[in-house]
Amino acid sequence: MNARILILDDEPRMCRLLELVLKEQGYTIQTAADGEEGVILWKNWLPDLVISDLKMPRMDGLEVLRYRNGHFPETPFILLTAFGTVKTAVAAMKEGAFDYLTKPVDHTQLRDLVARALEEYGPGRSQRMIGNSAAMHALHKEISLAASTDSSVLIIGESGTGKELAARAVHDGYGGEKSPFVRVNCPAIPAELLESELFGHKQGAFTGATKDRRGAFAAADGGTLFLDEIGDLPLSLQPKLLHAVEQKLITPVGTTTPKKIQVKIITATNRNLEAMISDDLFRQDLFYRLNTLTLRLPPLREHKEDIEELALFFIEQFRKKNGGPAIRPTPDTLARMRSYDWPGNIRELGNVIERGCLRAENGVFTEEMLPKKMIAANKDANTDPATTAPLDLIGRERGLIMQALEQCYWNQTRAARQLGITRNTLRYRMKKFGIKKG
Ligand SMILES: Nc1ncnc2c1ncn2[C@@H]1O[C@H](COP(=O)(O)OP(=O)(O)OP(=O)(O)O)[C@@H](O)[C@H]1O
Ligand SMILES: [Mg+2]
Repeated sequence: MNARILILDDEPRMCRLLELVLKEQGYTIQTAADGEEGVILWKNWLPDLVISDLKMPRMDGLEVLRYRNGHFPETPFILLTAFGTVKTAVAAMKEGAFDYLTKPVDHTQLRDLVARALEEYGPGRSQRMIGNSAAMHALHKEISLAASTDSSVLIIGESGTGKELAARAVHDGYGGEKSPFVRVNCPAIPAELLESELFGHKQGAFTGATKDRRGAFAAADGGTLFLDEIGDLPLSLQPKLLHAVEQKLITPVGTTTPKKIQVKIITATNRNLEAMISDDLFRQDLFYRLNTLTLRLPPLREHKEDIEELALFFIEQFRKKNGGPAIRPTPDTLARMRSYDWPGNIRELGNVIERGCLRAENGVFTEEMLPKKMIAANKDANTDPATTAPLDLIGRERGLIMQALEQCYWNQTRAARQLGITRNTLRYRMKKFGIKKG
């Protein structure tokens, strides 16, 4: 398992030694020379486990442990102590440390302890999908079915409905934690590099190919390859992907001998692939190959019964990350959430909760802490447009564009897709309405 481990020790030799032993086990390591530096790394790198020396300048091991309790209580923490400070170490365990190791560190003990801590805290295990509605129950059944075969799975659904989470759930059921799960986000990789990203290449195959590269298929061998946003896969690569999926053979760029691979393929998209097929933007034969099984993620407005549970879940996530008192939404806040349509689905709900939690006063999350548009949207819903004031078309269009941009974190490609217009059209409108990020 490729867990990330952060090591804090002011003695560089100690850091190097631990790093060496643990790297051999396949872990990824970062080190820091004191608590303060360690905390900065912790926040940015989000390790799965932290090993910290007790005595360090600036911020010592116990202070780091307290930081962990406040910010990352889900991350196992192992304390390193010199002989003679074992009492403190025992006290640290009472405060939440997983265990302690005494110096000089016994390598076997170190390896065992780390493996045990990671197993108990289960990093890499996917986030559970929240929701108890009939729609979610049906989805869970479909996920189990998809996990029980080698067949390819296509996941469709609007943006923010949980496609990536569903892909991981299928993988967990299919291969479990021990087999690899490799995700490739197709639009994030320039078209000319995607082939080698997927199939690997041989050193010297093209300018810049300074070393052999395995590629995503080979990395996922024996497990799952998740091709996210498959609608963005360039047409030129589609025959090669079809060939790889059908024949279970890949040919790295710059080689001629195909390699056998055994990979479960999961793909996801929020685009309408059938429409893309009619427009000659997606190959029909590939489409049929990829969607042996289809999982459709319902938009949140179709399972509003889950809103409250999801909201409480996101509030708890916020508290775990930021500490502070418990936060509770008022009944009015929950009612507002239920009557809103959630075009950005569960992702949008998560964002709304995070913003609300930041503004909550004395642990109370009132409806004023919801985005204005949610309150306005509710009012609109009760008025018949035919009998009210003239339609404010420009205002509405501007509003829709703003909404899409905010939901997509100002990613114009995505926002355009959500609005069903091209990116150029979006840019043109943004200019026309004077919309700028800010
Ligand atoms: N059922 C769920 N329970 C808890 N969290 C969820 C659930 N579904 C989605 N989420 C959370 O909502 C966010 C969006 O989910 P995800 O990234 O899987 O959506 P997506 O369908 O892939 O969206 P996009 O098409 O924009 O990529 C993530 O933070 C995810 O953890
Ligand atoms: Mg996604």
